[in-house]
Amino acid sequence: MKIILLGPPGVGKGTQAKFLMDRLSAVQLSTGDLLRAAVREGTELGKSAKGYMDRGELVPDDVILGLIGERMQELGDKAVIFDGFPRTVSQAEGLDSLLERLNLQVDKVVELVVDDEVVVERLGARRSCPACGRVYNLMFAPPERDEICDDDGTKLILRDDDQESVIRNRLQIYHKQTEPLSEYYQKAGILVQVPGDGKVDEVREKVAVAFV
Ligand code: AP5
Repeated sequence: MKIILLGPPGVGKGTQAKFLMDRLSAVQLSTGDLLRAAVREGTELGKSAKGYMDRGELVPDDVILGLIGERMQELGDKAVIFDGFPRTVSQAEGLDSLLERLNLQVDKVVELVVDDEVVVERLGARRSCPACGRVYNLMFAPPERDEICDDDGTKLILRDDDQESVIRNRLQIYHKQTEPLSEYYQKAGILVQVPGDGKVDEVREKVAVAFV
């Protein structure tokens, strides 16, 4: 099974992907996480991606498709939840071709929908653990101790691209370059739209309905 989680930055794709992994025994494939790991490790990919990410712009399609192609070779027919990919029609077409070559297909696309201001509020309060990657929210899902990871005691960090000016740029780019995917997958008859506002558990219940 190949699932895509679509939606603007900060809508909760990563949060919901974690629940779906358990429910569907699937692997989460987040291009954002792969790129951030490459930046941390200082690889050529990381060096070329960093500027785009810091500005809130998209990394070029050919780079992303190369990255996904490599991971898909390793994952084969395992169930996969794509989180933050595809982000352009060209990436969606590239994914279709890649899966076709492997005799596979995208089975379902869940689009989480919220207003921009909800995103700005959520991302300004997002903190993550640089050691284990756990994601918190100072307003909606705070750690027990002030800005310290519950699991390993590491000081939490604010992502470089979660500054308000960068968030607003990411939103603009989302509306222009990624939103057309909604129509792309609607035409393919595999799109389910789910409201992304409300509490995490409420959204989880609504997402779960798409898989009964
Ligand atoms: P990426 O890491 O994919 O960022 P994004 O899409 O902007 O998504 P986020 O990770 O910011 O948000 P999310 O939807 O996962 O929300 P989360 O669950 O964390 O990409 C980063 C950059 O990499 C891009 O800008 C681009 O440069 C590059 N890139 C990545 N993929 C690319 C691609 N395919 N092509 C080209 N470039 C690419 O939740 C957010 C916060 O809200 C958290 O604090 C969470 O706790 C909280 N929260 C979640 N749900 C709720 C809720 N229901 N109520 C209250 N709070 C909630």
